[in-house]
Amino acid sequence: MFFSIAFCLSFSRLASASISISDPSDVIPPSLWAADNAIVPNYNVTDLSVQPSPIISVYNFEGNSTAIDHKSFSTLENETSVLLVANGAELNLSYVNVLKEGYYSDLLTSSFWGFNAAINVANASTAYFDHLNVTTHNGAANIYAYGTGTVVYVDNAWLYSSGPVSHGVYASGNGTVYASHVQQYSGGRRSSSFSGDSPAGYVHISDSVAHAAGVGSASFYALGEIYADNVVSISENGPVIFMDGAQKAYLTNCDATAGLLGGVAIFSSMVRESGAILSLTSSKITTTGDTLPGLWFGNIIIDVSLNDTELVTSSGILVVSNFSQITQDFNHYADYSEQPNLSPAEVYVTVAESDLVGDIVAYNGSSISWSLNSHSNWTGTAYSGYGDAYFDVYLDASSLWTLTNTTTVRNFTSEDSTLSNIYSNGFDLYYNKSATGHAYLNGQTISLNGGGSAISSS
Ligand SMILES: *[C@@H]1O[C@H](CO)[C@@H](O)[C@H](O)[C@H]1NC(C)=O
Ligand SMILES: *[C@@H]1O[C@H](CO)[C@@H](O)[C@H](O)[C@H]1NC(C)=O
Ligand SMILES: *[C@@H]1O[C@H](CO)[C@@H](O)[C@H](O)[C@H]1NC(C)=O
Ligand SMILES: *[C@@H]1O[C@H](CO)[C@@H](O)[C@H](O)[C@H]1NC(C)=O
Ligand SMILES: *[C@@H]1O[C@H](CO)[C@@H](O)[C@H](O)[C@H]1NC(C)=O
Ligand SMILES: *[C@@H]1O[C@H](CO)[C@@H](O)[C@H](O)[C@H]1NC(C)=O
Ligand SMILES: *[C@@H]1O[C@H](CO)[C@@H](O)[C@H](O)[C@H]1NC(C)=O
Ligand SMILES: *[C@@H]1O[C@H](CO)[C@@H](O)[C@H](O)[C@H]1NC(C)=O
Ligand SMILES: *[C@@H]1O[C@H](CO)[C@@H](O)[C@H](O)[C@H]1NC(C)=O
Ligand SMILES: *[C@@H]1O[C@H](CO)[C@@H](O)[C@H](O)[C@H]1NC(C)=O
Ligand SMILES: *[C@@H]1O[C@H](CO)[C@@H](O)[C@H](O)[C@H]1NC(C)=O
Ligand SMILES: *[C@@H]1O[C@H](CO)[C@@H](O)[C@H](O)[C@H]1NC(C)=O
Repeated sequence: MFFSIAFCLSFSRLASASISISDPSDVIPPSLWAADNAIVPNYNVTDLSVQPSPIISVYNFEGNSTAIDHKSFSTLENETSVLLVANGAELNLSYVNVLKEGYYSDLLTSSFWGFNAAINVANASTAYFDHLNVTTHNGAANIYAYGTGTVVYVDNAWLYSSGPVSHGVYASGNGTVYASHVQQYSGGRRSSSFSGDSPAGYVHISDSVAHAAGVGSASFYALGEIYADNVVSISENGPVIFMDGAQKAYLTNCDATAGLLGGVAIFSSMVRESGAILSLTSSKITTTGDTLPGLWFGNIIIDVSLNDTELVTSSGILVVSNFSQITQDFNHYADYSEQPNLSPAEVYVTVAESDLVGDIVAYNGSSISWSLNSHSNWTGTAYSGYGDAYFDVYLDASSLWTLTNTTTVRNFTSEDSTLSNIYSNGFDLYYNKSATGHAYLNGQTISLNGGGSAISSS
């Protein structure tokens, strides 16, 4: 499918124009592989702590250095990679086509350990791929990188997959990938475009286009670190970013659309973790549907930076901070009955050079700290979705807040103590006098522009 965006791939956002971008699903229609894409993978499988061996593949490169150009490789075998690069090997491929068909039997060996991946690069091996075409069906990752010291460099790649657990680029076990000029499409479930996995994958993507269609498929799955620069992406049935635990994701000059759960869906799948980082610079996240928030967080403590960034939602909700998480179904916000390790989310957002329209919503003991800096503007309110909700709002003197409803915050701090940086629209702002952030307001009632007042609530 073509997706039309108000963005120019290699140019600044100022040169905005509506253009159409194609992805590999324009060449191989997903309708040809609809049954493959409808398969629901069985994820109720036992975890394995070590990579099983041997990994089966048709072409093995182990412990040597090889360069190949202008060739095609393929297999139709189940549970079999086309190319395996292992044990300190180096493989360079230039103008090479790889076609992989054949099923996976077990999610963990296939997805996590790369048993059915078209190209598996493992154990301190290095690969340089340019002008690569990898097409997979029946559930197989395109490029899989595993293990400390494994580094895969990709420049100019066309990556197509159908079937479940068919990630475009997947780095696991401390593996690293640098990929540029990639066009990616995945049609199956749990098939994120660019993924890291346990204990960490280091995924660097630039100047690329990604389209993931299946449920549970994000543009970026952060387990480890994601660095994206100039990526245009759509996740039809997933967020732009899934992140599980204290991981890091940095997006710069990206234009990304999400169709399920939220613009990002960031959580801890076990006990709540702290130290997660989300940084969006000169980027735009759009969510489709009437209910999707721009950014969604559950059971996590995270620092978020929005710098020169747009969040476009039709829900009117910029941020949700919830007592919740995302299960392996990857399709709903789970409650305590599904995951008893839950704690409230604590979300610390620092906004700079951004103009944001919409509300921030916290649930059930969760909090949002919302700091507006460097000529930022916020039009919206903060409210509880359910139960106790805590909001700490900071405004520097160059930033403006336009209220859209009566709003109650915990700490309220304004660099401009006359509060001329608030336009009230006739609504009142209640602040908690005993919260430490605004001792200077001293319990006074201050008249705001537009008819409302800032009033001490205690
Ligand atoms: C996995 O197990 C859960 C809980 O037992 C169940 O609800 C779910 O349907 C199962 N999923 C699959 C794909 O078998
Ligand atoms: C990687 O190394 C581990 C540990 O030595 C070994 O068990 C595994 O089979 C190796 N993987 C490959 C693909 O050679
Ligand atoms: C593979 O490509 C890298 C980077 O261009 C180069 O340094 C290396 O020598 C190449 N290896 C082979 C076997 O050609
Ligand atoms: C590396 O090993 C593979 C598998 O034995 C072989 O096909 C390839 O030619 C070897 N590369 C070099 C440069 O000898
Ligand atoms: C591959 O897996 C499919 C689906 O499980 C099965 O129908 C087929 O017989 C298998 N092929 C081989 C060669 O084992
Ligand atoms: C990549 O290969 C597939 C078939 O394996 C083909 O349909 C597709 O057109 C190729 N893509 C490009 C860009 O050549
Ligand atoms: C990943 O790195 C950690 C920390 O250095 C190490 O303990 C672990 O063995 C590494 N895993 C692999 C698969 O290389
Ligand atoms: C915002 O991004 C610009 C450009 O990358 C950078 O120079 C600036 O320091 C960033 N500002 C903040 C507050 O992070
Ligand atoms: C919030 O979390 C609860 C579970 O605690 C869940 O039922 C609800 O759907 C979630 N709502 C949102 C918008 O995240
Ligand atoms: C915020 O609004 C002010 C006044 O309307 C405007 O000058 C400024 O450019 C806006 N900031 C952003 C980031 O759009
Ligand atoms: C303002 O908040 C109140 C109470 O939560 C709600 O009933 C009302 O619909 C809101 N008004 C607007 C304009 O959103
Ligand atoms: C915000 O309020 C809470 C509760 O009063 C307090 O613990 C915290 O230190 C305050 N933060 C700031 C920045 O004042």
